[in-house]
Amino acid sequence: MPAPTEPARIKEVNESYHDAAAATYDSKWGIDFGEIGQDQVTGKIRKAFGEIPPKPFESALEIGSGTGYFSLNLIQAGVVEKVTATDISPGMLETLSENARRLGVAVETKVTEAETLPFADESFDLVFGHAILHHIPDLGKAFAEFFRVLKPGGAMVFCGEPSRYGDRLAVLPKRGATLAAPLWRRAMRASPNSKKEEACDERHELESEVDVHAFAPAALDGFATGAGFDQVHVRGEELLANVHGWTMRTLEGSAEPEEVPMAWRKFAFRSYIALQKVDTIALEPYLPASLFYNLLISGRKPEST
Ligand SMILES: C[S@@+](CC[C@H](N)C(=O)[O-])C[C@H]1O[C@@H](n2cnc3c(N)ncnc32)[C@H](O)[C@@H]1O
Repeated sequence: MPAPTEPARIKEVNESYHDAAAATYDSKWGIDFGEIGQDQVTGKIRKAFGEIPPKPFESALEIGSGTGYFSLNLIQAGVVEKVTATDISPGMLETLSENARRLGVAVETKVTEAETLPFADESFDLVFGHAILHHIPDLGKAFAEFFRVLKPGGAMVFCGEPSRYGDRLAVLPKRGATLAAPLWRRAMRASPNSKKEEACDERHELESEVDVHAFAPAALDGFATGAGFDQVHVRGEELLANVHGWTMRTLEGSAEPEEVPMAWRKFAFRSYIALQKVDTIALEPYLPASLFYNLLISGRKPEST
């Protein structure tokens, strides 16, 4: 991963990159707000805490909520009641509000960056996020804020953070699939994606500026314990599913989108879900967290500090 630039520049690029991505973000990443989406997010919460908490969190704060993948699915699944969704990108929060209106879900939004939260001390029962920590320049500062705004006994959970090893591992299926793409397209009778080269160069350049960390589990643990959290656990998620996911995404991305057959898309999705189950049952409980593509971290603010 390239050396990080100035914190102010990282935040500025994150805001503009995600503002520009907001309108097509859900379709690009296959974000679902129905049964599939709810199963995915509750599955991650179960892994992070070891169970679905027995009663809903009354007031929750999401950091870097994007278009609402976690907030809106967790509300619908009954894991959280009242959510304040925050993000550095106003565009992402506009899409989140449209999604919430369409689903008939109530959620408050606030544009803010994670290192300085505009909320009073001890305001929330839960602070959570998905795929956000790796964008934040000063994680010591951010975790101190998560701790400050939590009520005593409150919980913290972040999922979908890239592990250092997983980040390197993802390069292999991407390379393999790039080599296999011409053969695959011939089999699918699809032509090469005419916009790919241009979009790729531009995206690659910006991604190297918005993604500022890939974590070793101990380093992630250190940010949470350093801020005062206890009962901190870092777990790993997705290995086979991820290799498969990057392979499928790279193959599909190499072709004109409307020429990828629907039957192939269904096969790719179903096999991804099947491999996720294999990871969950056969690999995640037994292998070290550092081997997996994604990390999940959970912790508690002690009752008395
Ligand atoms: C990869 S997206 C994930 C969005 C959403 N959580 C999801 O899982 O779909 C990262 C989000 O974090 C936001 N973000 C980036 N840097 C941030 C910062 N310093 N503070 C708050 N939000 C930030 C981005 O605008 C973007 O919406």
